Amino acid sequence: MSEKRILEEIESLKKERNAVILAHNYQIGEVQDIADYVGDSLELSRRAAQTDAEVIVFCGVLFMAETASILSPQKTVLLPEINAGCPMADMITASELRALKKKNPGSEVICYVNSSAEVKAESDICCTSANATEIVNSLKGDRPPIFVPDMNLGRYASKMTGREMIFWKGHCYVHTLIRAEDLKKQKEKHPKAVVIVHPECLPDVIELADEVASTSGMLRFAARCSVDEMIIGTETGLLHKLKKDNPKKKFWPASEHAICDNMKKTTLGKVLNALRELKYVVKVPPEIRVKAERAVEKMIACGGTPTKACPCLGEG
Ligand code: 13P
Ligand code: SF4
Repeated sequence: MSEKRILEEIESLKKERNAVILAHNYQIGEVQDIADYVGDSLELSRRAAQTDAEVIVFCGVLFMAETASILSPQKTVLLPEINAGCPMADMITASELRALKKKNPGSEVICYVNSSAEVKAESDICCTSANATEIVNSLKGDRPPIFVPDMNLGRYASKMTGREMIFWKGHCYVHTLIRAEDLKKQKEKHPKAVVIVHPECLPDVIELADEVASTSGMLRFAARCSVDEMIIGTETGLLHKLKKDNPKKKFWPASEHAICDNMKKTTLGKVLNALRELKYVVKVPPEIRVKAERAVEKMIACGGTPTKACPCLGEG
């Protein structure tokens, strides 16, 4: 089937099914281009909570579709590629988290949204890369909070807030592929470029950056920054929207190896199949959903997108 025909059929099935297509910023360009909303994890979970559509086609990875189902249990949430998981989310299980809580009584648990529904159900509050520091600051307990599963995001939030935390040794293999040596080479090649990296990166990479932000934080930053060259330290899929939104600016990846295989598994053909056959349905069992929802809702109520301000941006 031609791409034109696939696009037409997606459009007409979307209306017939009363569906909305949500896509993460790391999806392939064609998928981003047919989505109703493209965003970071925080924006997409807000969209999933607010939409009037009956069907949510989630072009992302499993934990994102699960979060949509946690927030909108009455809706049909579809993941076009059932094998699109997040290796970092699989680095901690609910029973491992229960054991960690037992060892640290009284510590509140923050879980990065890149986690399973079962892990969320064991947590007090979720966070995303866009609001981690604000979520840490919102905790009132006097014991060091537990932060799972991403140790790099946890260390970054700890540094920004000055709060001691208990970490789990999870990490994103894509962001840890970005090495300080790669970034230094890119900085030498493009000395005028502003460096912006994701907080899932290793601490020595974050040290070299002018700005640290979630994927949509990077998009907002790039749109406002007066410098027209940027080195981007995250999954390379973000460059599609950066270039599309800012055709006059130049973007260089901090590392060309930073590609998330799972994010690239969703294709237009799979989106079409998802709408045609209403598959693959992602549904969180009610007893887990209700507990996980508390942690996600608490995060959404907290909100916020603070980042370190680049000198070129001035106030706001
Ligand atoms: P954000 O888009 O929320 O920054 O998340 C990055 C990521 O790794 C999602 O899997
Ligand atoms: Fe998971 Fe990293 Fe891929 Fe995001 S980029 S889905 S954190 S492996």
